[in-house]
Amino acid sequence: MSRLIVISNRVAAPRPEGEGGAQGGLAVALSAALREYRGLWFGWSGNVATTFTGKIDFQRHEGVTSATVDLEEQDVDEYYNGYANRTLWPLFHYRIDLAEYDRSFAGGYERVNERFAETVLPLIEPDDLIWIHDYHLIPLGAQLRERGIRNRIGFFLHIPFPPSRLMVSLPFHEGLVLSLLAYDVIGFQTEEWLESFQNYVERELGGHCESDGTVHVGDRSVHAGAYPIGIDYKEFQQAVASEGARVAHDRLLKSADGRHTIIGVDRLDYSKGLTERFEGYRRFLEDNEDCRGEVFLLQIAPPSRGEVHTYETIRESLDELSGRINGEFAAVDWVPIRYVNQGYGREDLAGFYRAAKIGLITPLRDGMNLVAKEYVAAQDPEDPGVLILSRFAGAALQLKDALLVNPYSKEDISDAIRRAIAMPREERIHRWKAMNEVVKREDVVWWRRRFVEALEGSRPPARRQAGDEGRQG
Ligand code: G6P
Repeated sequence: MSRLIVISNRVAAPRPEGEGGAQGGLAVALSAALREYRGLWFGWSGNVATTFTGKIDFQRHEGVTSATVDLEEQDVDEYYNGYANRTLWPLFHYRIDLAEYDRSFAGGYERVNERFAETVLPLIEPDDLIWIHDYHLIPLGAQLRERGIRNRIGFFLHIPFPPSRLMVSLPFHEGLVLSLLAYDVIGFQTEEWLESFQNYVERELGGHCESDGTVHVGDRSVHAGAYPIGIDYKEFQQAVASEGARVAHDRLLKSADGRHTIIGVDRLDYSKGLTERFEGYRRFLEDNEDCRGEVFLLQIAPPSRGEVHTYETIRESLDELSGRINGEFAAVDWVPIRYVNQGYGREDLAGFYRAAKIGLITPLRDGMNLVAKEYVAAQDPEDPGVLILSRFAGAALQLKDALLVNPYSKEDISDAIRRAIAMPREERIHRWKAMNEVVKREDVVWWRRRFVEALEGSRPPARRQAGDEGRQG
């Protein structure tokens, strides 16, 4: 079996249970996938050094070797806070109003991708499969090719791919999308993002896409497909059954004092629709006087990307809005929103999800959303809760039995909460069963297998290629 080299901006450091933090979907999903593989995971350490040295810190944990490098301050400013999170993240989440286009960001992005390529190069062996992740590292495949790497290289985008009409607002958009063609396989979370990519290829690059997923541009042919990511279902079941989850579950139920819990868990990000969610919940309280005092919203929202201005702003608005709603509706013995800016470990979350009657997950745009899947996996089969899910989350294409809502509509959110509270047990069980089957079957192992098989099958291994005298590490 070939070795798998995973490259992503963030490499999940093993965290003891109970130690929270804003660990995103990518980190959680990849550590699960690599546990089965003789894998190497390369990326940024998260640390800032005075100058970039390229010195790699190797660590081994549960069969996975992580190899990380420090970046210098200018790299972090221009590449991570800049191009990745001020330019690409908002653009790819359809927020061109928030996207900032600054040449220094684009320069820093290229520079860090080059640095990653130079640093990882000596670690690559001829048979390795290379799997690069997410919007931080789109040009990395092309950078590796320029340095003679002929291994099979795949790329997976964890976030949406924007429609062509938005994509063209990015200066030098052709260059960025063309660099994707250096990969052998390009994976998206859903058919919708895949279609946007194909549409861009045909409209802007004069390419041609076949129904089997082959994309042709000039003399280059690559495979592009939809590979929806899943959760580590088995591992999550263990978390649900753990003592830690039981304690968290009981703690929440006790404090709920007979009221229904509505839960939301999101990184504090404008793409998650938190303002709109709070407004929808407020509408619910306005329209359903009989329910006041009977429910509360537990919104867990660990802050993230705090150095980016838009994240400071969303944090301030949510502080204010939650305060206003609480001031308006609270009673001496009831607070409508418990707004918590702290992260929790998996066992705690599993317990909270199970104790909550409703999972309220309403991003304005989301590549997938694994919280929705974890909420389903945590439920008691005999008495499951109801998932209210944004139709604009990638997960909505798989979780069709959720109550799907338009996250921009207060009325939609309010009506769905009302309906979820009143939903008979049989209907809850029926919907949950259908969703749980999908979450269980299409888990992280299924995702990884499908992608890696596509990559393995994309062409013969590099070493057997005729005339291949390129650098192989
Ligand atoms: C999303 C992205 C990931 C990212 C995560 C957390 O899930 O797709 O690439 O790692 O958010 O964001 P952060 O900026 O803290 O890495």
